[in-house]
Amino acid sequence: MKESPILPATDENIRKAASIIRKGGIVAFPTETVYGLGADALNEKAVARIFEAKERPLFDPLIVHIGSREQLKLLTDKVSDTHRKLMDAFWPGPLTIVFKKSPAVPYITTGGLDTVAVRMPSHPVALKLIRYSERPIAAPSANRFGYPSPTRAEHVYRQLGDRVDLILDAGKTPHGIESTIVYVEGKTIYLLRAGATPPEEIEKVTGLKVIRKSKKMAPGQLPYHYSPTTPVLLIESIEEVEELLKKFDRIALITFRKEEIPEEWKEKVIHDWLSQEGDLREAASNLFDKMHQYDEMNLDAMVFQKAPDEGLGIAINERLEKASRRYSSR
Ligand code: TXA
Ligand code: MG
Repeated sequence: MKESPILPATDENIRKAASIIRKGGIVAFPTETVYGLGADALNEKAVARIFEAKERPLFDPLIVHIGSREQLKLLTDKVSDTHRKLMDAFWPGPLTIVFKKSPAVPYITTGGLDTVAVRMPSHPVALKLIRYSERPIAAPSANRFGYPSPTRAEHVYRQLGDRVDLILDAGKTPHGIESTIVYVEGKTIYLLRAGATPPEEIEKVTGLKVIRKSKKMAPGQLPYHYSPTTPVLLIESIEEVEELLKKFDRIALITFRKEEIPEEWKEKVIHDWLSQEGDLREAASNLFDKMHQYDEMNLDAMVFQKAPDEGLGIAINERLEKASRRYSSR
């Protein structure tokens, strides 16, 4: 039997992973947001293996992860004052900034664009991996294309199996949703993807307005992203469940905070919540985890209650809406 590619993220195993990256291999590793599937960002063949393993369309660009500001110089030479403010405030951490790319960055990494998305992760394992490999690491979320991002090493293994050379396991990722992506143009900041850094914090730090609903969406923001196999339905309040129970026999109901549900529902409903006290950060970190958990149970539907539309709730609701779109469009 083949050995499982999952290894605990010890220093020794991180060095092993780094040497795989240097040789053009692909490695799944934890970041503070979700698990990424990494390759040397400047090695075209290695990056091609990521697209192959994920079955990801080639026009969907990757995020390049760096371990120091010095490394940014390999990727771009157009850094503005606003960029600097953002980097000072949020790096290392879950903010991805889109820059004009330098010629060294291959087009396969950027999906043919002249821009490159960059972030410096704060997870110690990710930082060590980048530093030991001495390469900027291109890494999309380590899921199969169109499926929810992995928040645990086992999620990666279930979706990608032996297509990956090694999976570094450091348990559940702290934020549990992906980074926020921004693009800066003059004095305007466009939110390309809502994520683990709330737009309100970006406005506070820069004193600039963050444009939330713009046509400049990240190319990877296809409507079906993040869909589990089980149909996902959204509700605002739990009263709406009554109606759904006429249609479905076995559902998971995941409310935003802990709630009581009527006794007579319990035969058909597995009830759970994103955060007992309704804490947005905790809710975000559990979102994909719950999706993976209930997707494996062969239920008729997963019913999620939306979060309040502020702070991290924006990113949570954006992902919920995407996950539900595959169902509502068929
Ligand atoms: O938290 C995260 O960002 C995780 C971890 C692993 O770092 N990564 C992640 O990567 O979510 P991925 O590939 O699943 O999503 C990257 C997104 C896609 O929607 C892609 O279209 C967008 O970033 N993107 C990448 N390069 C871009 C560019 N040059 N311009 C606009 N959007 C870009
Ligand atoms: Mg992804």
